[in-house]
Amino acid sequence: MTHTHRNLTPQSKDADGRPRKAIASQVHLVERLTQFLCDDSLELLKQHIDELAKDITAAQTEEPAPPEAPADEGTISLDRSYILAELAQIQESRTLERAVYYAKRLLRGIVEVKTNGINDINLLRWKEYDEVISDSLWVIPRRDNSGAHIAEYWGNYVPQIPHQMMVRYTKRNDWVLDAFMGSGTTLIEGRRLGRNCIGIELNPQVAARAGELVNAEPNRYNTVADIVTGDNRTAIVQDILHKNGIDRVQLVMLHPPYYDIIKFSSDARDLSNAATLEQFLAMFGETLDNVTPCLEKRRYLCVVIGDKYAGGEWIPLGFYCMNEVLKRPFQLKAIIAKNFEETRGKRNQQELWRYRALAGGFYVYKHEYVMVFRAR
Ligand SMILES: C[S@@+](CC[C@H](N)C(=O)[O-])C[C@H]1O[C@@H](n2cnc3c(N)ncnc32)[C@H](O)[C@@H]1O
Repeated sequence: MTHTHRNLTPQSKDADGRPRKAIASQVHLVERLTQFLCDDSLELLKQHIDELAKDITAAQTEEPAPPEAPADEGTISLDRSYILAELAQIQESRTLERAVYYAKRLLRGIVEVKTNGINDINLLRWKEYDEVISDSLWVIPRRDNSGAHIAEYWGNYVPQIPHQMMVRYTKRNDWVLDAFMGSGTTLIEGRRLGRNCIGIELNPQVAARAGELVNAEPNRYNTVADIVTGDNRTAIVQDILHKNGIDRVQLVMLHPPYYDIIKFSSDARDLSNAATLEQFLAMFGETLDNVTPCLEKRRYLCVVIGDKYAGGEWIPLGFYCMNEVLKRPFQLKAIIAKNFEETRGKRNQQELWRYRALAGGFYVYKHEYVMVFRAR
């Protein structure tokens, strides 16, 4: 199955066009379900479940909120389809024991939180997170251009990439380091999700513009977005962390230049100005050596990179960079292929590229990699 969703937040309408989110009083819901557990016949339990399903269907609706958002003053934000499906399962039970088992499971999902320890996804309500991608092929038809995400920077990545990574690999208030910050896509998304972020960017103008964009994003969770101008191979990372009162981060995002495909500046320290592929990989290795030691053990590193053609040959930059990471203490957890529709560089040139591909026996790039590693 491929996912084409914008982000984690469940869509506001279900397949039947009804609002998916319902607010319920948590106490009330828990009380009712607990009472039902005392029902001494299957018929009575089903009748009560039927009444509850009707109330949930009629309940007040709200703007979709992330399922991990804290319940406010005893109210709980429920995915309408999720809870109605759970209630339907109880109603389909053939024995009282089975129905009670499902009712208890639903109750647990409402009052308890079970996570894997590195994110806030409540595994007891895992069916609600249908926008968290767990497949290795990502088809994202368009970038998220909402809020401060304005796509003006040539060579930026879609916000959905840091979004997915932060939701899977961090908890609220964790720290994320993006060492090739560019226009600040990670920091904007981090601010939305309540993650503290540090961004390192070589080009001072680009860093300053990123600061403006990040500040344009409302800071609902009051998190830090620290922008550092400098070379990620030589920046004193421990000083940056200490200034922020931390000594480790929980996620590192690296979206380096794809060697010389886009020249980001004329600065010799810029990876896009490496004289050769070998030098590019050596510089990328220096970034890894300088930046990744601050990643907490067993936490995640994400490298976003594409391949390139040179001299009629496919250069597997992504795999070369992957090998650089694997020379260090990391386990490879995923190679995700993400579609890559239209870059500013290739806009209006599709037909020309198709002709060239047919004539020259090559393929037009339609993907890049999101590689996920875990620190040993
Ligand atoms: C592919 S872009 C990253 C784009 C970013 N993900 C975004 O969404 O805007 C790579 C960035 O790395 C920066 N860069 C190149 N070499 C660097 C270095 N040695 N240290 C820090 N930043 C560097 C470039 O200026 C460029 O902005």
